[in-house]
Amino acid sequence: MRTHTVRGMTYLSPLGYLLGIEGAALLRGFREGSADREFVEARIAEIRALLDAPALAHTEGVTASPGTISTADVYQAWAPHYDGPGNQMIDIEQPVVRRILDGLPVGTALDAACGTGRHTAYLHGLGHHVIGVDASPAMLARARKRLPDVDFHEADLYRLPLPDDAVDTVVCALALAHLPDLGPVLAEFARVLRPGGNLVISDAHLLVSYLRPALPRQPGPDGRPSLLTEYHRPLSAYLAAALPLGFQVRHCEEPCRPPRSLDPDTAPDPLPTHQSWDLLHWCPKASAAAMDDSPIAVVWHFQLPGAPTGGSRGTSGRPSVGQGVGKQRLGRQGRLAGEEVPPAVGVRAREAGRRE
Ligand SMILES: C[S@@+](CC[C@H](N)C(=O)[O-])C[C@H]1O[C@@H](n2cnc3c(N)ncnc32)[C@H](O)[C@@H]1O
Repeated sequence: MRTHTVRGMTYLSPLGYLLGIEGAALLRGFREGSADREFVEARIAEIRALLDAPALAHTEGVTASPGTISTADVYQAWAPHYDGPGNQMIDIEQPVVRRILDGLPVGTALDAACGTGRHTAYLHGLGHHVIGVDASPAMLARARKRLPDVDFHEADLYRLPLPDDAVDTVVCALALAHLPDLGPVLAEFARVLRPGGNLVISDAHLLVSYLRPALPRQPGPDGRPSLLTEYHRPLSAYLAAALPLGFQVRHCEEPCRPPRSLDPDTAPDPLPTHQSWDLLHWCPKASAAAMDDSPIAVVWHFQLPGAPTGGSRGTSGRPSVGQGVGKQRLGRQGRLAGEEVPPAVGVRAREAGRRE
């Protein structure tokens, strides 16, 4: 599976996207035994209707340049809306992550790529001494407002501002899809975790790549709408990065979109001139058949071997932030530690902020 892809200009055609959804519905139906004759003929009739619909036929798509917008720019725009109501990814991911966090010993926890502090707040409420790290000043500003007593640091996940063996738990939620290389960042997590430490990861599921509309975002340096580069991975990629570092798998879960996740009572916006979730109202049955009950996220619980040191909440147990970065890349046991959006060109803020 490729995670490093050199991609050219991408033509985001609304009609093309809808035909893709019809195709995904058919292929899934064939595979899962839900594609009886009535279903298949309905899809074929709907494809004909889509092809003949003047509104779709005459709607120009958007040619967008992949990789010409940075993650930082996307979150600068998205920060005010990121964890507002209606973010389906959060709605589905959060209970699974919380269930895992509920079972961990209380100690010092790092929320790596903490964003606006969603999981930071939960860890704090559980009694952990929490440290939040993120690369986006805009996301961090919201986290600091939400949790004035928590230490937040602007830093990159590839270079955490913590000494070795500093924390009992690392949570990294919905962020690894932004990083091209898993190995070095998981090595950073292993470096800062104490023996027996827990690592909880959530990430967008690989299938999201194939079913989600790609949102064109603000123009990049070439003046064209941009596409954010994201890395959606097969499960084996997480294992390939984690196991050589000594992590052991405690749990893996792929939470799914609920049935009828496309609300037919929600009035679609007028026809967008690019892919958007609203397009799915053109083919609600195909959308449901393609997407309902399909995995939207993957949640991992890994643990390092060794005796857990949870409960060390005294001052002595607290890491001194900023020291010891990169002190050693060979970890213990000799293992290698080593949207007001316009987020989207023409995308209404409401829509851009409400989905994953
Ligand atoms: C989808 S948000 C998730 C925020 C939070 N973890 C949550 O689940 O609510 C992704 C976050 O990852 C951060 N991020 C992306 N790449 C990063 C990097 N290389 N280093 C630090 N943070 C990064 C972004 O700034 C953003 O806040």
